[in-house]
Formats: sequence, C-alpha cells, structure tokens
Amino acid sequence: MSHTAIDKVLFEAASAIRARSYSLYSNFVVGAAILADHGQVYAGCNIENAAFPQRNCAEVLAILGMISADTKRIKRIYVVGNGAAPVIFCGGCRQRIREFADLDIEVISHGVDGEPLTCTLEHLLPHSFGPDYLSK
Ligand code: THU
Repeated sequence: MSHTAIDKVLFEAASAIRARSYSLYSNFVVGAAILADHGQVYAGCNIENAAFPQRNCAEVLAILGMISADTKRIKRIYVVGNGAAPVIFCGGCRQRIREFADLDIEVISHGVDGEPLTCTLEHLLPHSFGPDYLSK
C-alpha cells in the first residue's frame, strides 16, 4: 500500500475515534492511529480527568491497544486534533513512541480542518534516549 493510501486509512481511524474523546476540560479533541508491524491499525483518543494532570493523550491509548494485542513496533503514527493547525505530539508522547519505533519512521500531525504535516520521529526527538542504551 502506498503512503497516501495508508495515510487515508490512518486519518480515517484517528478522525473516527475523536468522537469518543473525553476532553470536556480542554475541548481539544484528539485521535491517534498507529500502523503496527503486521499492518494492524490501533486507534486511541484522549481522556481527561477533573484532576487535570491525570489525563491521557490519544497516543497513549493507541499504544495501549497495540501492546494489549501483543504487538510492539510502530511503523507509522497519525494524530488528528482540532482546527486547521497540525496537532503536534507532546514531549512525553515523542518519548513513548520512541520506545516502540525506529527513528526514521514518519509521524503525521493533522488539524482536522487543515493539511497534514509529515516528519520523521528523529526530527521530532533528536539525540534521544531509547531502549538500545539499556541493552549495551
Ligand atoms: N493531546 C493529545 O491527546 N495528544 C497530543 O499529541 C497533544 C495533546 C491532548 C491531551 C489533552 O487532553 C488535550 O490534548 C489538551 O492538551
């Protein structure tokens, strides 16, 4: 499948799960979709909490689905948020993705009313610390 076709699938999965987002405090409605190593897609939405720091990003739920299905490698990840500007992955999620992905994978940020922005994980998280350091 071409990147264009894959991105259509990921955009649709991330956009669809936004409907389940529990984001009544920020009203920032986010969906994320992971393409995993065997072609499966795992999607997640953000979940907020009255105790604000306890919120979970959409990427966390997508990773949780992937891990629950006993799959460990992210091949591509797509995130969709409000508005026209691409929703940029937070610092914590960059590190979470790094745990399960090669640095050259493409990550796509998209504001639902705008255009996608594609870059590599290495571009988002240069000079990163990862699991390879702990296996040396
Ligand atoms: N959020 C995500 O779910 N993913 C991101 O990449 C950026 C931010 C959520 C967390 C919180 O529920 C809301 O957006 C506002 O920060």
